[in-house]
Amino acid sequence: MTTARTSNWAAWAAPLLASAAVVGGVALWRARQRSQRRLDGVTCVITGASSGLGRGVALRLGAMGANVVVAARRTPLLEQLVDEIHACGGIALAVTTDVSRADDVQRLRDATVERFGRIDIWVNNAGLGAIGPFWDIPLEDHARLVDINLGGVIHGSHIALHQFRAQGRGTLVNVGSIESEVPLAYHASYAATKAAVLSLGRSLVQELRLAQLRDVHVATVMPWATDTPFDRHAANHSGHSVQLPLPDGAAKAVDRIVHACLHPQRRHLVGWKAKAAYAGHRLLPGLGDRTAARIEHALQIERAPAAAPTSGALHAPVVDGRAVEGHVRERMRLEANARDHDRAWDDAGAWGV
Ligand SMILES: NC(=O)c1ccc[n+]([C@@H]2O[C@H](COP(=O)([O-])OP(=O)(O)OC[C@H]3O[C@@H](n4cnc5c(N)ncnc54)[C@H](OP(=O)(O)O)[C@@H]3O)[C@@H](O)[C@H]2O)c1
Repeated sequence: MTTARTSNWAAWAAPLLASAAVVGGVALWRARQRSQRRLDGVTCVITGASSGLGRGVALRLGAMGANVVVAARRTPLLEQLVDEIHACGGIALAVTTDVSRADDVQRLRDATVERFGRIDIWVNNAGLGAIGPFWDIPLEDHARLVDINLGGVIHGSHIALHQFRAQGRGTLVNVGSIESEVPLAYHASYAATKAAVLSLGRSLVQELRLAQLRDVHVATVMPWATDTPFDRHAANHSGHSVQLPLPDGAAKAVDRIVHACLHPQRRHLVGWKAKAAYAGHRLLPGLGDRTAARIEHALQIERAPAAAPTSGALHAPVVDGRAVEGHVRERMRLEANARDHDRAWDDAGAWGV
């Protein structure tokens, strides 16, 4: 009896294990192929490359052998990045750029074409946050955020698409956010700019189809909250330190942006949290909005420690926040521990201990 059961088990388990091994082997082989893919001679422009996701994408594309043109306002960080890209086998050029200025973005295009002759991939990644009750954020901060997050993407898209039409091919990747689809309380103008970035990309896809430019692609990447120096560069008028809901590691969004450069689709949601939030919001938008508001209020206002108001890097770049990772998760963990510790002391005091 036991032998019969064992042989039955072996009869269905063996082919299952064999297929799992084949599928696993193919996935590993494909992952290795992808990581070893070479981009020699491919020219990529990346805005917002001095820190965070842009820096991560520039390093990754450089390691794949691409010509990488890095743009942002902090010139010394761009120059350091160029050296790092050279050290890992890529070719790089730094062009100091404020994306809110059309003439700066035109110079970025001209410097790239002068050096490399063409542009294959343009990534509009530069962007900042503005956190707090809408009415407490100064109007000049809202206006500047729109100039950078939306104005910068329009400048970059306009100049890149002119170039791609002349070449007959090219890929434009715009970095949106999960907030392109699922807006959050206390992020009103940020979420509005990111929704506009997605909308812009969708209209451009339609126009390219109408113009029969089949080799020109536009993709929008929508990361979930991600552990980068985003929190240190955002304007923050919430009265509390910047909190991000269950942030992903930066590598996840960097991987997806690089993937979008090579395999552009209309929209790329990054990770399961972004996919679940998107699906929930589509299915039950009212409940989704109420839940998002409650979570954000508890996280950003009720539980976060006090912090002084700041316009962050909106009006001028700040020195702090130079790496790809931001260590936001570590900071939030320390803040939560301190809060629990204080609460334990308060409870002990209440009991007269
Ligand atoms: N981290 C997140 O939770 C998250 C989630 C979803 C989407 N995103 C998006 O991801 C993108 C990258 O952000 P990040 O998370 O990597 O944060 P980050 O480290 O603060 O990166 C922002 C980059 O934009 C550049 N920048 C800011 N203003 C600029 C301007 N006027 N002209 C040119 N460059 C400018 C900054 O460099 P300089 O200061 O040197 O100019 C920096 O390199 C942004 O579009 C952001 O909205 C982030």
